[in-house]
Amino acid sequence: SLNPMTVAVTGAAGQIGYSLLFRIANGDLLGRERPVRLRLLEIPSALPALEGTVMELQDCAFPLLRDVEIGSDPREVFDGAQLALLVGARPRAKGMERGDLLEANGAIFTEQGRALNDAAHDDVRVVVTGNPANTNALIAQRNAPDIPASRFSALTRLDHNRAVAMLAEKTGASVNDVKHLSVWGNHSATQYPDLDHARVAGQPATELVSREWVTETFIPTVAQRGAAILQARGASSAASAASATIDHARDLMLGNPRGDWTSMAVVSDGSYGVPEGLISSFPVTTSGGDWSIVQGLEISEFSRARIDASVAELETERAAVTELGLI
Ligand code: NAI
Repeated sequence: SLNPMTVAVTGAAGQIGYSLLFRIANGDLLGRERPVRLRLLEIPSALPALEGTVMELQDCAFPLLRDVEIGSDPREVFDGAQLALLVGARPRAKGMERGDLLEANGAIFTEQGRALNDAAHDDVRVVVTGNPANTNALIAQRNAPDIPASRFSALTRLDHNRAVAMLAEKTGASVNDVKHLSVWGNHSATQYPDLDHARVAGQPATELVSREWVTETFIPTVAQRGAAILQARGASSAASAASATIDHARDLMLGNPRGDWTSMAVVSDGSYGVPEGLISSFPVTTSGGDWSIVQGLEISEFSRARIDASVAELETERAAVTELGLI
């Protein structure tokens, strides 16, 4: 049988954690053959609640779950981690400016980046879900100089999945028929879900839906979906965010389905005019823990303006955390 993989999860007592841990332990991330060891990080005040979740994990008697350890010291929890899912972050409190949010999270992600650098497995992969995800990933990456930059990625898969589901619904197709959809830029309201290359059962999406629907309905609905769920549920999206984290990490580790690509925020090499070093969402293919940006796509004027706007926001965030001395 396969060797167990050590998976660290931060913010494990949070809403996303409560869904994510059970999916990992069930084998949804690494497959039904690979045992898993969980290493869970929380702030001290959340450790008692996390102990309750660990009791529930035990009570599921998951065949693949080897052992679970919890703690609040990132160096201990990340020791030997082969995959680190950074979910925990400081939520935006009332009256908090975006700069305050970047600073509060900056402290968390500088510390966690350093701890990963010192304690994680040589082969570690790091996936950031906690918001602002792209810039948190940038901070962690820049504070982990011994870990190759390509090992860090941030989640735009929830946006990607939302866009796939919405296009499928609009065209009366199954989600399985939707391919080659791309999310570009920042995981924020400026993100750009791009249908220019998407196909539905082999047909170009642009022949199936109008430009007006794309502009007036599709793009804003995908971008505002989180707010709509918060409004309806009285709590933010958690199970779908956990599911997207699983999809992202599974595709990264095991490879994305052939004949398609997915969307991930990864460090730019300058592709498509995105400034080098920014962690921005691109269409990517993945295999064995590595990703590559899909090359050679034609970018329409319509797409160019939207990609540029979201990338400009990422540059502003990078400038802000540079100013704060976080990177
Ligand atoms: P939550 O507030 O329920 O849980 C966050 C947990 O992180 C809390 O238990 C908290 O104690 C913990 N935490 C805070 N600082 C920590 C630290 N330094 N070390 C370890 N743990 C720490 O939030 P929820 O709903 O689970 O969401 C988590 C994050 O994911 C948020 O930042 C949210 O904005 C983000 N998110 C990202 C999405 C994406 O698509 N990229 C989608 C949905 C949520």
